[in-house]
Amino acid sequence: MRPTSLDLMPPRTTEPTLLRVLAGERLDPPPVWLMRQAGRYLPEYRALRAKAPNFLAFCYTPELAAEATLQPIARFDFDAAILFSDIVVVADGLGAKVEVREGEGPVFDPVKPEILRKLSVARVRKHLEPVYQTVRRVKAGLAPGKALIGFAGAPWTVGCYMVEGSGKHGFSAPQAWMRRDPAGFGALIDLLAAATIEHLSAQIEAGADCVQLFESWAGLLNGDEFYRYAIAPAARIARELKRRHPGVRIVGFPRGAGSMLEAYAESAGADAVSLDYDVTLAAGRAIQKRLPVQGNLDPELLVKGGTAMTTRVGEICKAFAGGPHIFNLGHGIVPQTPPEHVAALVAAVRAKP
Ligand code: CP3
Repeated sequence: MRPTSLDLMPPRTTEPTLLRVLAGERLDPPPVWLMRQAGRYLPEYRALRAKAPNFLAFCYTPELAAEATLQPIARFDFDAAILFSDIVVVADGLGAKVEVREGEGPVFDPVKPEILRKLSVARVRKHLEPVYQTVRRVKAGLAPGKALIGFAGAPWTVGCYMVEGSGKHGFSAPQAWMRRDPAGFGALIDLLAAATIEHLSAQIEAGADCVQLFESWAGLLNGDEFYRYAIAPAARIARELKRRHPGVRIVGFPRGAGSMLEAYAESAGADAVSLDYDVTLAAGRAIQKRLPVQGNLDPELLVKGGTAMTTRVGEICKAFAGGPHIFNLGHGIVPQTPPEHVAALVAAVRAKP
């Protein structure tokens, strides 16, 4: 039979664009999603959130959490959904006492060495089963070309909130414990790494296509501490996830890593690095020689909108056009962001120059 024009067309793939880029492919336009793309800046989120008595109850109600996950995809057609949950659920799963307060964020009974002994990795999967149910629901409701991103906070970042008790006044307590008693503090980080492995593994088993590790407070660690408390635990988590789930991709987000960014890209075991908004385009391109990159628009430019935003979107897309790139912000969307600006950002990323 003579080939028809259809036979000559490249095979259609439904493999999510995000996963193709994580595997090293360069795509134009790049896939786009935004950190904290679900949340209070969306009126439909605020309406849904009112149906639960508190934030963690919301996270643990699969119908609500799944709908919150899908809301920004329905509104903006992002290329990926990120599971609606929070980084503190791992601590809750371990048995630490935590709540998430309106306008304040996570509040813990500060974790001390004697409390550490009562925390148990064996509780994590059972306690967090509603999160995995949420993953299954989202997966069933997501179009084939869209990726579902699972996530966890990295051990140091989650440990910061647990030991300090909140994020309101900086993190002097975890820094003091780490410097006074490295063995004891190391035990907390090890426990969190083991719990994070279980939590991410369970998300992958439930259908997450890839995972992101948020090291939001990487910038508080100096060089040697950065190796010990950020790079080493990330590498352990990545190694074990890849052993259990060959081929799974991991994105690392070491916010504020500064001069340690290259060391993170080289040694943390991540398949891609998410760049914060302090990273220059030149430094980002140096990372991109080694790994796919994601980021790094300043979330304040998304609040501002207009040509200031679209010009910067163009600069970022151009700077990273030569290699694998995922468009994203350099940190999460802030609540005062106008949703129309998000729609304009997606259009700008997808516009042909
Ligand atoms: O679309 C998404 O990304 C939603 C899922 C998500 C949330 N938190 C929901 C949330 C994700 C990926 C996170 C990550 C997270 N949580 C991080 C890492 C990323 C970062 O921002 O650095 C951190 C450090 C936390 C801890 C945390 N949880 C804080 C500091 C706060 C308060 C911040 C705030 O905006 O008020 C939370 C609460 C929280 N987590 C909210 C949401 C939507 C707001 C509470 C609410 O809606 O009732």
